[in-house]
Amino acid sequence: MTRDMRFDGQTVVITGAGGGLGRAYALFFGSRGANVVVNDLGSTSKGEGHSSKAADIVVEEIKKAGGKAVANYDSVEFGDRIIETAIKAFGSVHVLINNAGILRDISFKNMKDADWDLIQLVHLKGAFKTTKAAWPVFRKQKFGRVINTASAAGLYGSFGQANYSAAKLGLVGFTETLAKEGAKYGILANVIAPMAASRMTQTIMPEDLLSMLQPEWIVPLVGYLAYKDTEETGGIFEAGAGFVSKLRWERSQGALFKTDDSFTPAAILARWAEIVDFESKTPQYPSGPNDFMSLLESARELPSNKQGDVPVDVKDKV
Ligand code: NAI
Repeated sequence: MTRDMRFDGQTVVITGAGGGLGRAYALFFGSRGANVVVNDLGSTSKGEGHSSKAADIVVEEIKKAGGKAVANYDSVEFGDRIIETAIKAFGSVHVLINNAGILRDISFKNMKDADWDLIQLVHLKGAFKTTKAAWPVFRKQKFGRVINTASAAGLYGSFGQANYSAAKLGLVGFTETLAKEGAKYGILANVIAPMAASRMTQTIMPEDLLSMLQPEWIVPLVGYLAYKDTEETGGIFEAGAGFVSKLRWERSQGALFKTDDSFTPAAILARWAEIVDFESKTPQYPSGPNDFMSLLESARELPSNKQGDVPVDVKDKV
């Protein structure tokens, strides 16, 4: 891989590229020879209204700097139109960055159906629609890069963001399946959880922290994941303030039970310390449902389970 990774002849579609992180990606790919589709609905960060201005300004910036770009103003819920724009203008699509996003933060107690639905529509359905439209093109040309955008809120949960957390972790599962289905066709899919100063974070983070979180510092990771010689797929990455790291699932060694009449809640209680133990035995790092299936064979040989010493006050309840 060369130090100056370029994207000449490649078409990069970036949703929500009229501001924040998407704009930083668009300017980067524009400066590295790519044909860029700058999609943006031009809504508020709560998803209200629309305007062509945000996308137009970024397209102008790219063109002024000598790059190639076209605008698209559709909402990602009509992602097929965004991919159509790419095909019409440049004949194909090679890299898809699902970045568009909004917030409807509110405590779970007060969350309305509309707060839930709109967030799932933009983040999850939006990524589905764009990817679904790009997929046959990727398969045919035996090349594609999908970069989805999750969030620490999705990975760990975040107060007031039950709707957003659910959608963002949904994008992790979506990415991991795309990686598995795309592998044979040269399609790589990864997901990032960025941390950056933008209109989305400017009201919830203190000024001094925001100054350490430039959107441009997410660009190197995205550029790397989009590059033609990259082999990484199905990865989950956190990035921000110059820090880049990979996450993976960790499973405790756990406990294996004989599945007979002795497999009761009290048997769980008896071995609870083993079930939640990440320290004394090396944990596992599963990467697919098959990792679980191998356990089933060994379960057949086990002796009946010990019953836990149930505390008197809960004895009747287990
Ligand atoms: P931003 O608000 O600056 O940019 C999002 C862009 O998406 C806006 O230009 C908006 O007009 C556009 N957009 C919204 N709904 C759209 C729709 N239906 N169709 C097309 N475009 C639409 O926010 P930011 O921070 O740049 O966020 C980019 C992505 O990164 C989002 O998915 C966000 O959830 C995610 N993210 C950002 C974090 C941060 O620290 N800034 C943290 C974690 C995740």
